[in-house]
Amino acid sequence: MPELGLAESQIDQLTFYMLSLRRSALPEAFWPGDRLRSERFAQREFADDGATLYGTFCAACHGPNGEGMRYPGMVAFPAVANPDFLSLASDELIAATVRHGRRGRRMPPWGEAAGGLRPTEIDTVVTYLRAMAGGIRPEVDAKAPRWVHGDAALGEQLFTNHCASCHGAAGQGGEGPALADPVFRQYASDTYLTETIRRGRRGTSMQAFTQASPIRPTLSESEIEAIVTHMRTWEESR
Ligand code: HEC
Ligand code: HEC
Repeated sequence: MPELGLAESQIDQLTFYMLSLRRSALPEAFWPGDRLRSERFAQREFADDGATLYGTFCAACHGPNGEGMRYPGMVAFPAVANPDFLSLASDELIAATVRHGRRGRRMPPWGEAAGGLRPTEIDTVVTYLRAMAGGIRPEVDAKAPRWVHGDAALGEQLFTNHCASCHGAAGQGGEGPALADPVFRQYASDTYLTETIRRGRRGTSMQAFTQASPIRPTLSESEIEAIVTHMRTWEESR
């Protein structure tokens, strides 16, 4: 315990503050105002508008404008306000990701169970992500959440050759997100997966596999569906 050089009155204030943090040590009259507001009236010590919530809880990793962050050879912080993401991701996929995080990855769970944000606050954050991108809504998807029936064995081979270097051999994640994450697999529709592979995500290392490139082959529709069919077999084996 170092000698802090505090005046007596400062030590008193510190002691009073530390005591106030204890759950039941002091009568309410001695509680600091922010604790009173948060415990009696269920109000937050912070404002709960989208900009404040995003700036406080998300911007450090996903960038002040949701542009994501990437450093060579390191796990990418996804571009959560990227139009290619928001035009495919449902509100449920985004909210579930925020609520549960991505287990074992650097995306922490923010749901109430983890002592984090309330459901209405998570909705506010989702709306704010869309607002940052000019109000992009997900495209209407007339297909069932699970519609792909491809060749799983071919898909496994293609995944190993074209995806594993960034997403891990079993989808456990690498530079790119963990595609085998159970919450992600539950909420990501087949259309979300096939279209993300087809279109990629502009400005990130997730390229559009239907566009010709000198550094990787182009994938056909049936090859993309084979890959998604392979990704769905992770569900049975875990
Ligand atoms: C060069 C590295 C790289 C390769 C190769 C790659 N990806 Fe990605 N992928 C990424 C990154 C990085 C992201 C996150 C993008 C961002 O920053 O917003 C991503 C995002 C995704 C997403 C969205 C994940 C989510 O959490 O919403 C899917 C699905 C995906 N990739 C599938 C694939 C498949 C399938 C292949 C192979 C055909 C592939 N990727 C190849 C790097 C890669
Ligand atoms: C400590 C860093 C960190 C913080 C803070 C953080 N995230 Fe993330 N987030 C990540 C990482 C890393 C991923 C990718 C997960 C992976 O690599 O498997 C991710 C993934 C996501 C995704 C999925 C993106 C996609 O491509 O599907 C969304 C949506 C998201 N975060 C939203 C948020 C929101 C909203 C907040 C604030 C409430 C937040 N994150 C706070 C690190 C963070």
